[in-house]
Amino acid sequence: MTERKTLGVGILGAGFIGNFHVRAWQGVRDGDIVAVCSRTLTKAKELAKTAAETGVGTDVASYTDVVDLVRDPRVDAIWVLTPNYTRLEVIRAITDEVIQGRAELTAIAIEKPLGRTVAEATEVLEMVQSAGLLHGYLENQVYAPGLVRAREVIWQRGAAAAGSPYLARAAEEHSGPHNTWFWNGVTEGGGVLNDMMCHSVEAGRFLLTPPGKSSSEWLRPVAVTATIASLKWGREEYARQLKADYPGVVDYTKSPSEDYAHAVFEFVNGDGEPVVVEATTSWSYVGAGLRLSFELLGPEYSMESDTLSTESKVFLSRSLEQSEGEDLIEKQNAEQGLMPLLSDESVSYGYTGENAALTRDFLNGTQPLESLVAGVEVMELLMAAYRAAETGQTVRWPIDLHDFVPAVAKGEWNPRA
Ligand SMILES: NC(=O)c1ccc[n+]([C@@H]2O[C@H](COP(=O)([O-])OP(=O)(O)OC[C@H]3O[C@@H](n4cnc5c(N)ncnc54)[C@H](O)[C@@H]3O)[C@@H](O)[C@H]2O)c1
Repeated sequence: MTERKTLGVGILGAGFIGNFHVRAWQGVRDGDIVAVCSRTLTKAKELAKTAAETGVGTDVASYTDVVDLVRDPRVDAIWVLTPNYTRLEVIRAITDEVIQGRAELTAIAIEKPLGRTVAEATEVLEMVQSAGLLHGYLENQVYAPGLVRAREVIWQRGAAAAGSPYLARAAEEHSGPHNTWFWNGVTEGGGVLNDMMCHSVEAGRFLLTPPGKSSSEWLRPVAVTATIASLKWGREEYARQLKADYPGVVDYTKSPSEDYAHAVFEFVNGDGEPVVVEATTSWSYVGAGLRLSFELLGPEYSMESDTLSTESKVFLSRSLEQSEGEDLIEKQNAEQGLMPLLSDESVSYGYTGENAALTRDFLNGTQPLESLVAGVEVMELLMAAYRAAETGQTVRWPIDLHDFVPAVAKGEWNPRA
């Protein structure tokens, strides 16, 4: 019997998304988790244990130094899952090891957003290219089965007969992120626009692009208009709550990050037609939990998708005392009444499909379509949206946003001043 080849994957960052990726790994056949590296050894060991217990890795090593992770001979590819403000430092450490010949690596996959500015995202791409690595941009939503399948049907049955779709709407909303660094404009690179509109703009580009084609080639950006606001967390009572929940967090009455963003991105598509992505994101949505919604409109057809319209719902009466949890839905806000239940969030949000596709491509030596080039383009669109929101003017291409840093990311934005 011939031995089956698998990709050895090293996880860098054992936080929220690291846990999601490891859980998602049960649907991945072409790669195993061989090592976990995080700032604290306890966290790295815990996640390595989860990987072993769920059967997605054996003898999973634990490290605190990224250099040890890259030099581990079993590691063929690294999944970079650390906070936004660490992008440059960790990618530099990884690529230096490879370029200096101290480590062998095939590929790297990096979480969204690719950086905090176009300059950072571009530098990340350039470092990875100069190390000669295959690369993937970890934008899970373009692998979400609900979007992938609906897009196939829309393009096969609708667009093939009536013409390409013209409007994609994408929204991602929840009640606020889970760690202090997200809330700080400087460490995060902005607020909800950088954190979550990166998903919506890429999901929108994906839906508007025919299957098998790259949105980089199919869509040419033309103009962006945008609005950002501090709707909830800049209110005094909520700024106080933030301080209590996240000690050391910035004062949201003085330098908040936006908790609401809306942007309209205009493109010209491969047919020469004007098309639009309308994106809305917020950290100020208090519903059952995380809500992702999408629409795609074309001449004789449309599609819609909403992750809170789940197959299953549960009801728990007021007589039952419940403790707080996140077992029904990500960023869950309640434990009683009629609640949606997402049976496998890793699958529904696209993490399983993402990891399966990337490990398959990396193992076969193929460059994935959803590459870091897409990550840089998304960053440029987001920075255009910040510029448009700050100036109140439409941003039009061509435009050089390489050195643009949003006021929120400088800690200088205070809409309530
Ligand atoms: N695709 C998605 O839906 C999604 C969801 C959440 C987060 N993310 C992205 O994933 C990244 C991490 O977010 P998170 O929610 O897991 O954050 P987190 O704060 O929960 O976890 C980050 C982890 O990285 C570790 N870490 C920090 N600096 C490090 C370093 N230099 N070397 C090694 N480990 C280090 C921390 O100790 C922590 O364990 C962010 O870029 C975020 O935008 C993506």
